[in-house]
Amino acid sequence: MKFNPIHIIILTIVTSIIGCGEKKGAVEVPSNPTFAQHIAPIMAKNCLPCHRLNGAAPFSLEQFSAVRKRAKTIAKVTLNRYMPPWPADPNYSHFVGEKVLTDLQIATIQRWVEQGAPEGGSNYTYKAPELYRSSIRKPDLVIPFDTVVLHEGDLDRFFISKAQVKLDRKRYVSALELVPASMGLIHHANGHLLLYAEGTKSGGQGTVGKIETTKGLNLKSFERLNLISDDGSVPVRVHSAFNYLPGVEGVEYPSGIGGYEVPRDFAAVMNDVHYGPADANTTDKPVLNVFFTDVAPKRATGELMLGTNGVSKIVPPLVVPANKVTKHTTRYTIDADISVLTINPHLHQLGKSFWAFAIKPNGDTIPLIRIKRWNFNWQYFYTFKTMVKIPAGSEIVAIAEFDNTTANPYNPNQPPKTVAERWDYGGASMRASDEMFQFILTYTPYQKGDENISLERKIVKP
Ligand code: HEC
Repeated sequence: MKFNPIHIIILTIVTSIIGCGEKKGAVEVPSNPTFAQHIAPIMAKNCLPCHRLNGAAPFSLEQFSAVRKRAKTIAKVTLNRYMPPWPADPNYSHFVGEKVLTDLQIATIQRWVEQGAPEGGSNYTYKAPELYRSSIRKPDLVIPFDTVVLHEGDLDRFFISKAQVKLDRKRYVSALELVPASMGLIHHANGHLLLYAEGTKSGGQGTVGKIETTKGLNLKSFERLNLISDDGSVPVRVHSAFNYLPGVEGVEYPSGIGGYEVPRDFAAVMNDVHYGPADANTTDKPVLNVFFTDVAPKRATGELMLGTNGVSKIVPPLVVPANKVTKHTTRYTIDADISVLTINPHLHQLGKSFWAFAIKPNGDTIPLIRIKRWNFNWQYFYTFKTMVKIPAGSEIVAIAEFDNTTANPYNPNQPPKTVAERWDYGGASMRASDEMFQFILTYTPYQKGDENISLERKIVKP
């Protein structure tokens, strides 16, 4: 993107208007906002998807009384854009399903709270939007995983969980989406597909199982979970076919892009399913939504991973001494034109900020993502609104800062101690208390016109 002085001037005018909290364009902040008329519609759409009974948030805001009780905090967390959680800077780049309030909405909430958070009568509707078990559409197949029982006082627990499937014929899968029964319990899961050659796997539809381990998928866990083919061979594995992090929503790419062909026998395996500490006895039973298509995948997607475990080294090496803030860079030059669909910045608890962009051979910069305040809890897979072309010869650059001081509320060590990448697990450690610095791009080789292909989700009600 070229530096353009006219844009800067227009931006300055707009910010100074918003800055005084009065208007944005021609629309004014109401002088006496009420919950009934102004706040309920904003909150129903932007807050209740999580702040509902059994939602991802720790408390419900479905009753006006609950909202009023927290009015001051709501003013604070919306003003500093802590809520709704959307770490990416919306002034830098845009993505599908952005969760951001407009400046006008924020100013309206502020004024409403300043004026004592009046309800404005009881004649209004305030309801959480219908809870979609899928954020894509009605799934064609729902694969249940085994139930996990958690006890009050449990600390972090890690599982590998499998579900075996038998279809009547081979199918094309356009999207996969993991949905926990109770949002907020799973911290993350990394899902693989195991594809069995025709007639090499008995068992079948609905066979589930799990083991509790921090060791990750290896030959032993394959054996313990009965994942080996009947002839003793290891099935073909599709890595990271589905992933889960809190807040993640499923994506289905346009017809023919991405997706997989699955044989009649396949298994879905959740690796490193990480349940956080439980504060009550509870259970979870995640399901995998499967979306089929008749269109064969024409354009394969690939993953390019920079940093930890990836194609580019981290400079300086990822060691974050106690009581220090450090900055690290990783860069990689691509040798072919690519179209980027989705990106995933990944750091652990010491993460402070993240910034990624590409520098074209002609020196222009393509902004990818900027996260000024890293939040370990919200690590989205960000899908661009339209595919982003990065031409051959461009250098992709990611810069991350880590804060290993007591000022970082997520610091797992009080007092701080030196934290680094650790390699004693047969790969980089995924434990949140060790560090990682990754930037993952999902891409497909560039074709003319890709810049115009929209990746916006078509929401179809189930
Ligand atoms: C994607 C899910 C999600 C959405 C959408 C969401 N929240 Fe939250 N909210 C959470 C979670 C999880 C927490 C607890 C963890 C945390 O504080 O980060 C939380 C915490 C809060 C807190 C407590 C913060 C504190 O410091 O104690 C407030 C207040 C809040 N949210 C208000 C809102 C409001 C208002 C909206 C809508 C404008 C909203 N949230 C939208 C998930 C969400």
